[in-house]
Amino acid sequence: MYIALISAECAPIAKAGGLGDFVLGLARELVRCGETVEIVLPYYDVLDIAPLADLQVVYEQLRVPFHNEWITCRVFGGKLTEVNCLFIDPQSVHGLFQRRRIYGEQDDAERFAFFARAVLEFMLQSGRQPDILHCNDWQTGLIPVLLYEVYQALGMNRTRVCYTLHNLGYQGRVSETILRQVGLDPQRVMTADRLRDSQDGRLANLLQGGIVYSNFVNTVSPRYAWEIQHTEQGMGLQPLLNTYAHKFGGVLNGIDEEIWNPELDPLIPTNFGVETLPRKALNRQALRSRLGLQTVDKPIMAIVTRLDYQKGVDLIAHGIHDTLAHGGQIVLLGTALDPAIAAQFAQLKQDTAANPDCHLELGYDETLAHLIYAGADLMLIPSRYEPCGLTQMIAMKYGVVPVVRRAGGLADTVFDANYSDQPFELRNGYVFDELTAAGLESALRRALGLWHGYPEYFWQLRVNGMRSDLSWRRPAQRYLAIYAQLRATV
Ligand code: ADP
Ligand code: GLC
Repeated sequence: MYIALISAECAPIAKAGGLGDFVLGLARELVRCGETVEIVLPYYDVLDIAPLADLQVVYEQLRVPFHNEWITCRVFGGKLTEVNCLFIDPQSVHGLFQRRRIYGEQDDAERFAFFARAVLEFMLQSGRQPDILHCNDWQTGLIPVLLYEVYQALGMNRTRVCYTLHNLGYQGRVSETILRQVGLDPQRVMTADRLRDSQDGRLANLLQGGIVYSNFVNTVSPRYAWEIQHTEQGMGLQPLLNTYAHKFGGVLNGIDEEIWNPELDPLIPTNFGVETLPRKALNRQALRSRLGLQTVDKPIMAIVTRLDYQKGVDLIAHGIHDTLAHGGQIVLLGTALDPAIAAQFAQLKQDTAANPDCHLELGYDETLAHLIYAGADLMLIPSRYEPCGLTQMIAMKYGVVPVVRRAGGLADTVFDANYSDQPFELRNGYVFDELTAAGLESALRRALGLWHGYPEYFWQLRVNGMRSDLSWRRPAQRYLAIYAQLRATV
């Protein structure tokens, strides 16, 4: 099968969060299963080209109709380990993807609408006819719409679309001008059952368009799939998701065990595995000395995250104070896009600067993230909602015990040490329900208490987490089954 994975992110070359990990992890596993896979991304100026082999122009003079003009693009191709990647570079509109970042621009809607049209135009002009276009999040929501409204009539009628929702907090609510710019007729597609936003009827909702027009839609955990159909987590899309329940499901993500594997990880000082777990102590030492943490008889509670409303930033702040007050150390690595949240954490950093048990690092740092997973004992993830969440899975692989809110994929992967219905050997962390300080404390203090009082049980929790199957093998089989079902309709 020929599968084109279309996304705004791909780890490690253009990553802002878990979407990047998803794309690379799934692509590599599909290639291992013998499928032909191409990842298609914009040619960002922030693209890290170092890991790409044979990067070269593979297609010139791609002409993309956009906003009553023809935009000329080049397409670069390169290999990211065993996966082919393609990058679309609109040469004649300078600056569309030269913003020193992937997202967060005023004109994101226009940038990614252009990308959607360019991807299909590239497929058409280069004579590609993917069996599956696997699209992700709102940035690619126009691809299934354009495929059915425009490109099928041009001969692309064998391609089927699988659409994955990674986060309903970002739906791509855009002015209907964008539809005209990409060559859609607003009169036809701006209806309540197609792209018209249910909350603000003047806007088009690109995520909604993706859901309506794709052949199969999924999200990244079974629990989040349920939550967005039945609770306010659907963020306005519950009715639509219920209408399309027959083509909707949840597939839990995996993690790429070649990148996230403490036995092989080249970015950590000392490799270790479940049989050599005592060696983790050397990484803990390295982490402490890198960040200047002095006390050695306290557990390190780590937080590695985008600092965003979704991640429960207020509870993160409370968790920092509560951990410090109850015999723990804190290491936080976080990126804040929102200026108010950035200011809140800059202040917290100042307030805790003199505390020898606390280190807050505000920024994005892949290498430090690996060292934190390798050295930490606990990880705090008090998300308001979490479609899947990869940090708890990576944490578990590195012998770190997660403390999480029961939401989305966190609920599907973390089983409480005390209150789970799972047998003890499958229990791997601490879970709380209520999105309040008291809720958080109920889990946090049990975790800190176990570390201090019952080290052998704590050790067993680490081992249980390390033994869980979090790889891409099972999820990739699920996607292959979905693709096969879609192919059966051609
Ligand atoms: P989300 O995609 O919602 O941000 P996930 O848990 O799915 O959350 O994935 C987050 C990914 O991004 C993980 O690989 C995590 O290690 C990484 N990450 C998050 N914040 C940072 C940061 N500040 N520096 C380095 N890596 C980070
Ligand atoms: C999104 C979600 C996160 C998920 C990731 C990969 O960023 O916030 O929960 O793990 O996508 O699917």
